[in-house]
Amino acid sequence: MTSQTNRTVASVLAEAAATAGFAPSVHNTQPWRWRVLPDALELYAVPERKLLSVDPAGRLLTVSVGAALHHAVVALAALGHTAEVTRFDGPELLARITPGAPCEVTPAAMRRVQQLRTRRTDRRPTRDEPVHPDDLTALQRIVEEHGVHLHLLVGDQVYELAAAAGRAAEVEARDPFVQHELEFWKAKTLPAESLPETPVRSTVPNRDFGEHGRLPIGEGHDGSASYGVIFGRDDEPATWLRAGEALSAAWLAAAERGVGVLPLSGVIEVDVTRTALRMTLSELGYPYLVVRLGLPDSDHAGPPATPRMPAAQLIDTSAVS
Ligand SMILES: Cc1cc2nc3c(=O)[nH]c(=O)nc-3n(C[C@H](O)[C@H](O)[C@H](O)COP(=O)(O)O)c2cc1C
Repeated sequence: MTSQTNRTVASVLAEAAATAGFAPSVHNTQPWRWRVLPDALELYAVPERKLLSVDPAGRLLTVSVGAALHHAVVALAALGHTAEVTRFDGPELLARITPGAPCEVTPAAMRRVQQLRTRRTDRRPTRDEPVHPDDLTALQRIVEEHGVHLHLLVGDQVYELAAAAGRAAEVEARDPFVQHELEFWKAKTLPAESLPETPVRSTVPNRDFGEHGRLPIGEGHDGSASYGVIFGRDDEPATWLRAGEALSAAWLAAAERGVGVLPLSGVIEVDVTRTALRMTLSELGYPYLVVRLGLPDSDHAGPPATPRMPAAQLIDTSAVS
């Protein structure tokens, strides 16, 4: 089977899988594996890269796999293919992408794939200027398109989140297994240049990475940032996958609008604080991830790209080679 440009469809699919490697993932674990078939791309979760101490259920793993799934669909659109996605309940096979008819590559598709390559997790304090409400509403709409929701915290809810995040950080700091796991992944995949050089002045604390890095930050406080919770109607893997797709879609759209996204998962990782966050949502649904939305510091250079695993470890092309 060949594509519009006479490349085999399998080579287009392999390229989309490689581009999906830019996706964000918890602790940069990249817990996915692609299998390239002559006419489809299968996406599997990799349980060996699950964070056993903070994510035993695989919630954050599945959100990360969902982000890779959306990245692959974005990459295919930029390669001139529509994509039909079939989702599975796992535990390992989570999705199959079947490319549809060749389509015109739109400027929007090209911009999106560009954002995918340059997007970063930016842990610096945000600028002292709020995100425009129209941008927040647009991001909420994008998340909804993926079947989950983005609740923007208002008033005291932000302080409830701050208290829960502080509590989660305390619980995790006392747990040697959590610390060991963090150290392992930090050494493997999180360069010092991605972590702030001094403590960040912040309303809602991020995970304590246990050391300062080499990322220059300003004096600011991220008091102008907005905080959102991606949540859904149940706490099942199928919906976690959707949440990851929504995270990716919202992050790329935010990047295009000049808005920075910082995922904060500590509060989700600890049962008691995840439950507290559910109460903050008035039990409207189950929280999967907290995100800080803010305007990036424009006075300092942002974080560099973080390393990714070699494509051969993430993509199995044995069925087509
Ligand atoms: C589900 C999920 C949870 C994450 N949780 C955190 C977090 O609590 N704190 C943080 O600083 N980064 C968090 N991240 C960001 C990852 O560390 C980041 O995506 C990874 O290191 C790759 O870096 P990049 O996003 O700059 O490409 C999370 C990302 C995902 C997808």
